[in-house]
Amino acid sequence: MLELAPTDPIIKAYLRDLAQLKRQGVSHELGLKAPFQTLLDKAAKKRGWMLVPELSTYSGGKRVVPDGTVRDEFRLARGWWEAKDTADHLAREIEKKLRAGYPTRNTIFEDTQVAVLYQDRAEAGEFPLSDPPQIAALLNGFFSHDEDDEREFHRAMAEFKSRIPDLAQSLREHIDHAHKRTPRFQQAFAEFLSVCRASLNPELTTAQVDEMLIQHLLTERLMRNLFQNPEFTTRNVIAAQVEKVIEALASGSFSKSQFLQRLDPYYKAIEREGANLGHFTEKQDFLNSVYEQFFQKFSPDVADTHGIVYTPREIVDYMCASVQDALHTEFGLSLESPEVVILDPCTGTGNFIVNLIERIPPRALRDAYHNRLFANEVMLLPYYIASLNIEHAYFERMGQYEPFQGLCFVDTLDMADSQQIVLFTPANTERVAREKNAAITVIIGNPPYNVGQKSENDNNKNRKYDEVDRRVKETYSRDSKASSKSKLDDAYVKFFRWASDRLGGRDGIVCFVSNNGFLDQIAFDGMRKHLLQDFDHIDHVDLHGNVRKNPKLSGTIHNVFGIQVGVGITLAIRKRSTGKRLRYHRVPEFWRKAEKLEFLADSQVPWEVLTPDNSCNWLIPENAEEYAQYTPITDLFQVWTLGIGTNRDSVVYDWSHQPLADRVAAFITAYNAEVYRHKSETLSEWPTHIAWSEGLKNSVRRQTLVEFSSQRIREALYRPFTKKLLYFDRTLNERVYLWPKIDGPVVWIKTGADWPFFALAATVICDRLPQGGSQCFPLSHLKPAAVESFRAHYADPAISPDDLFHYIYALLHHPEYRARYAGNLKRELPRIPFAPGFHAFATAGAALARLHVHYESLEPYPLTEELAPGAPYLPSLRVEKMKLSPDKRSLRVNDSLTLHGIPPETHDYRLGSRSALEWVIDQYQIKSTDYGESDPNRPDDPHYIVRLVGQVV
Ligand SMILES: C[S@@+](CC[C@H](N)C(=O)[O-])C[C@H]1O[C@@H](n2cnc3c(N)ncnc32)[C@H](O)[C@@H]1O
Repeated sequence: MLELAPTDPIIKAYLRDLAQLKRQGVSHELGLKAPFQTLLDKAAKKRGWMLVPELSTYSGGKRVVPDGTVRDEFRLARGWWEAKDTADHLAREIEKKLRAGYPTRNTIFEDTQVAVLYQDRAEAGEFPLSDPPQIAALLNGFFSHDEDDEREFHRAMAEFKSRIPDLAQSLREHIDHAHKRTPRFQQAFAEFLSVCRASLNPELTTAQVDEMLIQHLLTERLMRNLFQNPEFTTRNVIAAQVEKVIEALASGSFSKSQFLQRLDPYYKAIEREGANLGHFTEKQDFLNSVYEQFFQKFSPDVADTHGIVYTPREIVDYMCASVQDALHTEFGLSLESPEVVILDPCTGTGNFIVNLIERIPPRALRDAYHNRLFANEVMLLPYYIASLNIEHAYFERMGQYEPFQGLCFVDTLDMADSQQIVLFTPANTERVAREKNAAITVIIGNPPYNVGQKSENDNNKNRKYDEVDRRVKETYSRDSKASSKSKLDDAYVKFFRWASDRLGGRDGIVCFVSNNGFLDQIAFDGMRKHLLQDFDHIDHVDLHGNVRKNPKLSGTIHNVFGIQVGVGITLAIRKRSTGKRLRYHRVPEFWRKAEKLEFLADSQVPWEVLTPDNSCNWLIPENAEEYAQYTPITDLFQVWTLGIGTNRDSVVYDWSHQPLADRVAAFITAYNAEVYRHKSETLSEWPTHIAWSEGLKNSVRRQTLVEFSSQRIREALYRPFTKKLLYFDRTLNERVYLWPKIDGPVVWIKTGADWPFFALAATVICDRLPQGGSQCFPLSHLKPAAVESFRAHYADPAISPDDLFHYIYALLHHPEYRARYAGNLKRELPRIPFAPGFHAFATAGAALARLHVHYESLEPYPLTEELAPGAPYLPSLRVEKMKLSPDKRSLRVNDSLTLHGIPPETHDYRLGSRSALEWVIDQYQIKSTDYGESDPNRPDDPHYIVRLVGQVV
């Protein structure tokens, strides 16, 4: 509900802006509509909604484009706005618009002098626009329309969402019971499971297939009713198969109808709202959003691995239009051409195919629909929705319902392997075979993206695919100079590889919206090289929104998918008869999601032509040529290593000795038990009380037993200025890299696009850090030849390895070096120039390294302590979670102690994304982990944390 007062600043601003334009003599619609647009936009934001300009809509079967559409949080259109010229006769103009099919559910027509509001097909009032109380009444009426229905729907939706976990759990229990007790179900399920494994993923677990049944049960009614498609479950080739298992489930004590009755009120309200939606595009948006919200609640892990976010319509539109345009300009073809055979390999709810169907003229649509459009989906629910959406889109255009035979329930990346067997049902197998034989020339879609998984126990790890993984390895990975290539193990990378190969020997187009880390990150140099080999013209619109790169951005506000990683649209064209061209455009840094989408709707992209360098950099940083002349740090050391990667930090790291020893000993006992168990039952599952990783599973398979030894407990730098104890062990740490060979001081360096560069001296093992890629360079492995070259350059035979090490350390801290080469330090490890004044650097570096390594024995900075009245001193040192004041000059240690007088310079020295003090604040807090509470307080040295604060300040 909106309750604007006539005195609201947005109304004042409207009147002021309008008066100003009129004073300047502007009188035509285009010139004058801006103030009302701004007013409506601001009012919509106050209501939590959004104004989308120039969005086409279907009303009474006709396509119209009102000046603005107001959408709610479900992307449902709540109202429209149409501006007319001051000189027009408003009543006549309204009549014309109504005849053209403009919506009248809730629409404002205005000509800057007066506004006429239509609601529920009738005029609901006339409002003079010079009068603030009238403007307020207009907007309040407009934004409160349909409130009752809407409220009921939102309540139903919110309740449905909040009950999903509960309902799913109760279904899970019914299914568990049937697994144990209902023979007919056991048999049907066993058959279904083996079909799923053979068709979709050999590693599917019983629980995952149970989840499919649950999804089906919870949503099947919505599918049937929203599109008035009562035969959906019997006609859809996959749904029919699932129904058989559900029937077998119902043969036991479970009654499907009784269970679903509990959902009746929600379904009814959702269906009622669905029925209100005039045109199919609105239904589609509605279903998309119900689907997304359902999945996020139902199965966040699945949403994460499979990238369950539907693609905003503006992006789909932009991509389909770009493909259409490229077909025309590059190949002289159109969507009607028989050579144009299109595949969306990860179709989700089918939005790309639906959009294409709307673009193909009816005379060519039947042929395209049956022979030249294909789509794949691996998850059951989106597969259903895609099937409904696509078939309905066809029905809307052609007036006839025909099954879409191009939709396959299949894992696209599996299709690269040659040995395909039966895929679910004979009908699906046939569809897949037809797609495999099709001469695909256009691949378009939104592939999933994610790098690995947090823990092996999530069981949602990126699947291994023999063929595609081999192809990534022999191309993108083999031609990369990066030392860590783990980022290539991302689904979207595999999809690019697969799509490039799927075109086969043909010219064609690949258009993906995806994570765009590949543009500038180190690990993707080989991928960039191959993209430019595989394609001739590449255009990339960088919609970015990487929250790690720019912490001032917010995923929900600035990112087009509401996620944390940068996003971009790549249009890659293979046309071998032409020269190479790479074009790029990056939208402004602080544009919000709506602004980015609006920009795409305009689709006039001001391209910048890029010329990649010899190292396959596309976005070449400032001073790159100069930087390239310096010696890579890796040429100065014989050995360097990645930071240690344990894959189970909460087991093998701790603040103190005894809890670590106890926990690791218990973990080892549990692990060894698994070794014995797997010896006798090789196919047993992996119990979740152990934090598994691929390496640890392999150790079980190799029957490697582990013995606890307190000798293995070592000091480690877990984060900057955060020492912890580490149980250092080849089996329990996933990757020890070269740490067993390293002793003495190292420089711990973090480069990469995710974090700003940092370097820190240490004398203990250093961690790999989140997002990986930290590298450590040990003094003991400096190359003698490197020392010689510095001696020769500075004509100083007295330069020692220590001097060179400290010279490097000082250089890496030099503000000018860091600023000048900031862009370069994001993409490769440092290069080391011969700077003037070697010894000044070496001396400064030695002092700095001492300071950094021995930070715990420094004299703390004298901060002023403010003790809450009556608080005893000692307990007041206990830290749960410290907090900086907004001006960052004070630190609240706990309820009874606050430290004042933090000098502002403290925050200038940054290590990656935080200052030293912020690292300490972030790390030294009580956290709960899967293995109990992690408490950094030291009973034997209660002053430690407060002292440390003073030391890092
Ligand atoms: C980001 S969504 C695409 C959304 C889609 N464009 C839309 O608007 O609904 C990715 C989709 O690809 C599916 N998917 C993920 N991996 C797949 C695979 N290997 N084969 C087929 N589909 C896959 C997911 O289940 C998900 O529905």
